[in-house]
Amino acid sequence: MIVGTLAPQAGAVYLSLMYSFVLAAHNIVRWVVLLTSVIALLNSYRGLVTGAAWTPRDRTILAAYANSFGVQFLLGLLLYVWLSPLTRTGFGNMAVAMRDPALRLFVIEHPVSMFIALAFAQIALGRTRKAATDAARFRIAAILLTLSLLLVLARMPWARPLFPAF
Ligand code: HEM
Repeated sequence: MIVGTLAPQAGAVYLSLMYSFVLAAHNIVRWVVLLTSVIALLNSYRGLVTGAAWTPRDRTILAAYANSFGVQFLLGLLLYVWLSPLTRTGFGNMAVAMRDPALRLFVIEHPVSMFIALAFAQIALGRTRKAATDAARFRIAAILLTLSLLLVLARMPWARPLFPAF
């Protein structure tokens, strides 16, 4: 009997802990994504301006951005479909969510923009592999990474804490 009444509470505590943990991880990994994106962007413009040869190091720098973004995407997806009370509220009443700027940001604008930004990073990874010349590789990376970073900066929830509070 006691076990029966405690089980739902234990489930709620577990979910709340998971939410805090994944949100904190999503918050911190954001800095990794931003750092790798700035490094990859500067590196692509350096190659474009100096006419440097495309080396495995350039590919590693680009992959570091695309892969850290992939990790951030998975954390964001966990929040979006399972853990976040914000998106749960939004899914409960989409009409209300669309009229509320704070809810609309997390239900539509943030995830959609970030998904497109991730696609730009992944396309850059694929296209630079197939490009005919090194100049084309740096040009493709510069264009796609600029678009990707602009989207990330535009739809980052800057009003939220810059670091998680433990
Ligand atoms: C498609 C990928 C993504 C999805 C689906 C997603 C989803 C979400 C959701 C649902 C929240 C709100 C969680 C809540 O407060 O209950 C959130 C918060 C946040 N997201 Fe994302 N996200 C994605 C990508 C990104 C990326 C790429 C960045 C930054 C580089 C980012 C940075 C943040 C930050 C800083 C917060 C606030 C964290 C906090 O308050 O501590 N997200 N995200």
